[in-house]
Amino acid sequence: MDLLIKNGILVTPTDCFKADIGVDEGKIVAISSKMPAEADDVVDAKGKYVLPGGIDPHTHMEMPFMGATTVDDFEYGTIAAAFGGVTTIIDFAIQPKDKTFLETIALWKAKADPKVVTDYALHVAVTNLTEDLIKEIPDVQKAGVQSFKLFMPYRKEGLMSDDGRIFRMLEESRKLNFLVQLHAENNSILEMLIERNVNAGKLSAEYHAKSRPNYCEGEAINRGLAMAHATNGNLYIVHMSTKEGLMELRRWKAMGANVFGETCPHYLVLNDEKYFSSKGRRYIMSPPLRSKADNEALWEGILDYSFDTVGTDHCTFTDAQKDLGKDNFTKVPNGVPGVETMIPLLYTEGVKRKRMSINRLVEVTALNSAKLFGLYPRKGTLNIGSDADIVIFDPDFELQLSRENLHSKIDYSIYEEFKVKGMPTYTFVRGKPVVYNREYVGKKGSGRYVPATKPQF
Ligand code: URP
Ligand code: ZN
Ligand code: ZN
Repeated sequence: MDLLIKNGILVTPTDCFKADIGVDEGKIVAISSKMPAEADDVVDAKGKYVLPGGIDPHTHMEMPFMGATTVDDFEYGTIAAAFGGVTTIIDFAIQPKDKTFLETIALWKAKADPKVVTDYALHVAVTNLTEDLIKEIPDVQKAGVQSFKLFMPYRKEGLMSDDGRIFRMLEESRKLNFLVQLHAENNSILEMLIERNVNAGKLSAEYHAKSRPNYCEGEAINRGLAMAHATNGNLYIVHMSTKEGLMELRRWKAMGANVFGETCPHYLVLNDEKYFSSKGRRYIMSPPLRSKADNEALWEGILDYSFDTVGTDHCTFTDAQKDLGKDNFTKVPNGVPGVETMIPLLYTEGVKRKRMSINRLVEVTALNSAKLFGLYPRKGTLNIGSDADIVIFDPDFELQLSRENLHSKIDYSIYEEFKVKGMPTYTFVRGKPVVYNREYVGKKGSGRYVPATKPQF
């Protein structure tokens, strides 16, 4: 046996139990309370949790956007992921307008393959949907991509799809059994509000949030979910930030629509007061940060099973890049980091504060993404035959989430004031250590592309 993790508390979506876990040739081969102690490497996990490796279903590594490129490439981004207990990222391959989906995937794989230290899968972010491209989808599915993101906003940035295209894609998702992902914000209203604020000389960071009020998201989510219901399509709303949007998700789920929702750690633990600091630009992402009441409503949405997943929307721009918009919030590249801090924050702010169980934590950070994005049972679970993507999580390890203690290339932390109690200390990807007792021991390019198979809805 290559690896034996002894004496830990294994966490599944339903149970916590003491067991040893044995790994051979990259797979989990044994889970038992009476394991013989022979292995090339034996790690004692007494007093620690043993979690399935996290899956972050929402990252943007090396992404060109709004005049800048995210500073975390696939190497640094996945090193940060591994320190945060994430063993698979699902990154968005952004379609250049003149490229097919298959060409887009090839482009993204060429960037990722030489650099990744964890495993990765891909979604296609659609910027130019045509009937010819719809015909290409069965081949895209064969190439291992089962999910396509469409954007309601970002008209000026060239990403927007209109309602007709979203409807058309939803029709097809039903026939071919893939998942449509939707960035839901009402573009016309937010463009009108942006114009009004800019014309009035209201250009500081707070006006980013004021130009994208809760209603913009709630209305757009309702519209997307209604289209999914009408077409019998499969729809997943990304990065949900408001209580209004959550209400719509609950309502359409109750009406039988095949719809799913993701929220992000920053919408759970940060609020829109951040825009009033001199560093307000760092917090510009879309949708924006909301009120404390929204934070609490979203925690409820995790607890009551309305949300299916938590993703990070890891999208890193440095202070210098954010300064592209130092005089005008509309020019600030949108995005914040998150891949390293998701699991520790959910544990500290969620599990320890009784807003969720540790079982629910592994469900929303591993199992559900594996199922929805076609990676299960290879990923997302501690089970015999699954990839040995395993995290040893020390519930007593304390860490200030300051820049110096994190591994992203970004030059600040948006969680400076947060101290977590509970951190991954070992991260194994297919049985190979990437983080070992908080030391990086991975190898550039050792991660693999994981082709998605049929999603399980
Ligand atoms: O502000 C954000 N969310 N940036 C990344 C792009 C996206 O819409 O996910
Ligand atoms: Zn988005
Ligand atoms: Zn995103």
